[in-house]
Order: sequence, then structure tokens, then C-alpha cells
Amino acid sequence: MSAVTLSIDVGPLRLRNPILLASGTCGYGLEMEPWVPLDAIGGIVTKSLSPRPRPGGPPPRIAELPTGMLNAIGLENIGLNAFLEQKLPALRARGATVIVSIFAETEDEFAAMVERLDGVEGVAAIELNISCPNVKAGGMEFGTSPTMTERLLRLLRPRTRLPLIAKLTPNDTNVFDVGAAALQGGADILSLVNTFLGMAIDVRRERPLLANVVGGYSGPGIKPIALRMVYEMVRRTGAPVIGIGGIQTVEDVLEFLFVGARAVQLGTVNFRDPTAAGRIVQELAQFLAERGLPSVEAWVGRVARVVSGTPVHWGS
Ligand SMILES: Cc1cc2nc3c(=O)[nH]c(=O)nc-3n(C[C@H](O)[C@H](O)[C@H](O)COP(=O)(O)O)c2cc1C
Repeated sequence: MSAVTLSIDVGPLRLRNPILLASGTCGYGLEMEPWVPLDAIGGIVTKSLSPRPRPGGPPPRIAELPTGMLNAIGLENIGLNAFLEQKLPALRARGATVIVSIFAETEDEFAAMVERLDGVEGVAAIELNISCPNVKAGGMEFGTSPTMTERLLRLLRPRTRLPLIAKLTPNDTNVFDVGAAALQGGADILSLVNTFLGMAIDVRRERPLLANVVGGYSGPGIKPIALRMVYEMVRRTGAPVIGIGGIQTVEDVLEFLFVGARAVQLGTVNFRDPTAAGRIVQELAQFLAERGLPSVEAWVGRVARVVSGTPVHWGS
């Protein structure tokens, strides 16, 4: 074992290491057990949970593309109560760090879910999915309006002591205003990005690849765009940021941390290689040890050393 310290504080959230599995790409965590040691990665973010179970959208709802994938799952999930009763105890027993992603159609429903989660043993933080492109109500409606985002956070903040993570959509030019509004309302951490709206056509069959016609685009093709947004968000807000978008390798992880993300989430890569997260944790320790760095913290935000005039505040 190397002596490198991989643990890191992301605002009030202390993680074993900065490698998390992204919402919707690792089920409820237990599905990954054959491939990922759940107590060795930084944590898992659950599939977004709603107040009641949801059936999701019609198939085909995923499509593989040369540099990523499209999905229109439509937030199919078992509902918050079923997760807490049927999945959380096993995750707790395995020592997994669990971030619960939630999604609701109204402010009151969001508030009730946050209250329900407060104080539940084994829940490390709540990620608010205010950025899903695949649903008619809620989702991106909240996350594209700074005013609605701030109001939602102000409503939720007093209802829990758990860290609140606002997950942002890249499908709007005002992502930085929405991020600032979430922080203003009381979010502890920002995570970005959710998927980019996209589409693809099967020209031989003369129809869209997805039954929903449009969907969320993710995977390696979005990485440079996501990286730029994370860089800008850290630069502009100084907030603790979790970087997401197209990460496949330890080098990708290092890029996001370099521009100031304090942790990352791996999404689409889990479908191609579900062992990636566990391997990347080890490779990260190896990389830092080879460079003589004592900790992940020492790597975070190093962009400020080479890009002059970047007003970055690395504190959590
Ligand atoms: C099949 C699929 C389902 C997803 N479901 C959710 C979800 O329920 N909630 C959420 O916040 N993000 C969801 N996402 C978005 C991912 O968490 C992540 O933000 C996005 O895919 C970008 O990361 P990546 O390029 O590493 O996949 C989903 C992504 C995929 C591919």
C-alpha cells in the first residue's frame, strides 16, 4: 500500500477517496458488487429516486454511439421508501458511502424527501437531481432557472443536516448562474454535468434511435466540454465541485482534479468496464506516489500554478 492520502473533504462531505459512481449508471450500488469493492471506492450515487416508484420511458431507450451513448430512461426507479427498506441496509453492511440522488416534480415533494432522509444512518449526502433532460415535469425545469433553484435550496436547506449537492445541467448557457444560485440558497456542493440533450437517426429504418426521439448524451465525447464547465465553475464560485462527464481513465480523473474538482463521478464507463472505478483508485495512488505527492489534495487545483490570473479559492 502506498502512503498517499486519498481521502478528501468536499465541503462538509468527507470521502475515502475522490472516485464516485454516477447516478443512473450503477443501479442502487449492490449491482456493482461483483466488479467494484464498494468499501474501497469513494462512494456511490444512487439512481435518482422519486417519492413513488416510476415506470420510466418506452424502449428503445439507450443507444450506443461512437463516442458515448444516448439515453432516455425517464427516471425509472423503485421509489425512495423501497430504496431505504430494501437496498440501504445491505449497502450499509458493506461499508459503502451512499449518496442518495433524489428527484421530484414539486417543491413540496422535494422537501418531504429531504426530511425523510435526514438522520437516516448510512446516508452520507443528498444529491438533488434538478437537471434530468428526460422527464416532462420537474427535472431540468428547476435546474435551468436560477430563481427556482435558489428558492428550492432555501426550502430544503433547513430540513436536513446532510450535505446537499446540487447537480447541474449543461443544457443551458446560464449553468454558472444556476450554480451560484444553488450556493446562495444553501447548497454545500455542486456536481456537474448531467447529460447533454442529443439525438441520433437510424437512416436505414428511417427513424430516431430512441423511442423518445431525443435523450441525454454522455461518455467520452462530452469530456472536454464538461471539463471546461467544471474549470469555470470552480474559478467563478470557489465552491466545492464534483466533476462529471466522460471520465474513463485515471488521466481523465486527474484532469478534473487539476482544474479544481475535489471529487469525480464515473458514469457511462461503468457500462463498458464495470471494474474501472476500483482500478482507477489504485492507479490514482500510484500516480501521486510516483510524483512524490503526499495526497490527492496536493493535486487539486494545480491549474492555478500554470494559468495566470485565475482567481481560484481552493478551500472547501
Ligand atoms: C443510462 C443513464 C442513466 C442516468 N440516470 C441518471 C439519473 O437517474 N440521475 C442523474 O442525476 N443522472 C443520471 N445520469 C447522468 C449521469 O449520472 C452523468 O451525469 C452523465 O452520464 C455524464 O457522465 P458520463 O459521461 O461519465 O456518463 C444517467 C446517465 C446514463 C448514461
